Amino acid sequence: MIAVIGLGFVGLTTAVGFAEVTGKKVFCYDIDKNRSDLIKSGIVPFHEPHLGEYLNKHLNKNIIITETISQAIREAEIIFLCVGTPCNDKGNADLSYITAAVNEICAHLNGQYKVITVKSTVPPATISHAVRKIVEENGLKAGEDIGLAHNPEFLREGKCWDDFVYPDRIVIGEYDKKSGDMLENLYKPFNVKIYRVNANTGEFIKYLSNTLLATLISWSNDMSMIADAIGEIDIKAAFEILHEDKRWSGSPANMASYAFPGCGFGGYCLPKDTQALYSKGVECGHESLILQSVIKINEKIAEKTAHKIISAVNNDDRKVAVLGLSFKPDSDDVRETPAAAIIKRLCNEGIEIYAYDPLANDVFKNKYISLPINYKASMEEAIANCSVVAVLTAWAEFKEKAEILRDKTVIDGRYIYEKLGDF
Ligand SMILES: NC(=O)c1ccc[n+]([C@@H]2O[C@H](COP(=O)([O-])OP(=O)(O)OC[C@H]3O[C@@H](n4cnc5c(N)ncnc54)[C@H](O)[C@@H]3O)[C@@H](O)[C@H]2O)c1
Repeated sequence: MIAVIGLGFVGLTTAVGFAEVTGKKVFCYDIDKNRSDLIKSGIVPFHEPHLGEYLNKHLNKNIIITETISQAIREAEIIFLCVGTPCNDKGNADLSYITAAVNEICAHLNGQYKVITVKSTVPPATISHAVRKIVEENGLKAGEDIGLAHNPEFLREGKCWDDFVYPDRIVIGEYDKKSGDMLENLYKPFNVKIYRVNANTGEFIKYLSNTLLATLISWSNDMSMIADAIGEIDIKAAFEILHEDKRWSGSPANMASYAFPGCGFGGYCLPKDTQALYSKGVECGHESLILQSVIKINEKIAEKTAHKIISAVNNDDRKVAVLGLSFKPDSDDVRETPAAAIIKRLCNEGIEIYAYDPLANDVFKNKYISLPINYKASMEEAIANCSVVAVLTAWAEFKEKAEILRDKTVIDGRYIYEKLGDF
């Protein structure tokens, strides 16, 4: 059986959705008595298509509205926390609703193992730190006496029902394996890919999603302000034509490769065009904060990558193998390639570079003539005398030959390897 604590958009949809898809009994509790009374009488206290119809289908059968939290959790094996996490006046997530509910749950456990699953959006490390601390203050061992997990919710208001019942993925951020197993079992009837990750990763994924959406909106608005400042630009048409780019379509859409971290963008177009539109905006009276940040972040990520490599180098053996010189795989274009900035930084530290690129060795050598690099004809030769290997371009060859990096310290600047176990 399941318990759902907090019956807002997320909680009520979760409760009714589980009743519908899994056929399990769901005990529901909300601290707001007016709200729970309305729900008990079959009324959804906010506008959300389909929810009322399914609430009434399951009410007093698989959906039981309780008067207290202890009634709600008594028979439940998995408890979903769906309380609010608003912003406090310092800009932090206010976790007081979460803390209050966890404290109350702990007080009513009666020695039974149950999984507290936080569905509310909480900053990364909330479960592994704040929630675990409360559990321990209640004399319980997290992961043993009580299970903990995060299960981010991606539903959209106005489409809550469809998004919950037909999700595109389920993410389980488990603190302990037993919690993950129980949640995976519960979600099986949804017939969708389930990703099991640790709790911090689960919490991070939700913010990754929301901050990307927020960034896209602000970027669009920033661009509209540049367009307004320059004048005679049909903003609506320009954006509609942008949406025709075939990289938006497909599954996963090709655009996904741009929303992926690495050691920076380069090549002929992105660096100069970003800089040029930024400068044009300034000239016309709109300084684009997003473009300014985009340029700065590109410099910063190269610097951070160089720093990671430098930190991995042993003082007695100052050699690094660099795999990849072109700005992207399947290209020999080395203009503004992040590899150049990173290698320069390494050379300034007195590090000897052994470099290999499947296509770009010669063009890189001609363009960056002053860089003292030992160019090698193969990946094997480049890594032969180096214990530290930096991957700066996501060439398929480097991934295919992961095995030969087994004994090396690899700085994977493009996140091409799944995990260290690949080596
Ligand atoms: N609304 C969305 O579209 C959406 C989507 C995904 C995730 N989220 C996240 O889910 C969480 C809930 O969002 P929401 O929109 O459903 O919030 P909401 O404000 O609509 O509902 C929260 C409910 O929790 C109840 N509550 C608070 N403390 C309680 C307690 N101690 N015991 C029982 N009930 C308690 C409140 O009375 C309220 O009814 C938030 O963290 C939010 O960021 C929201």
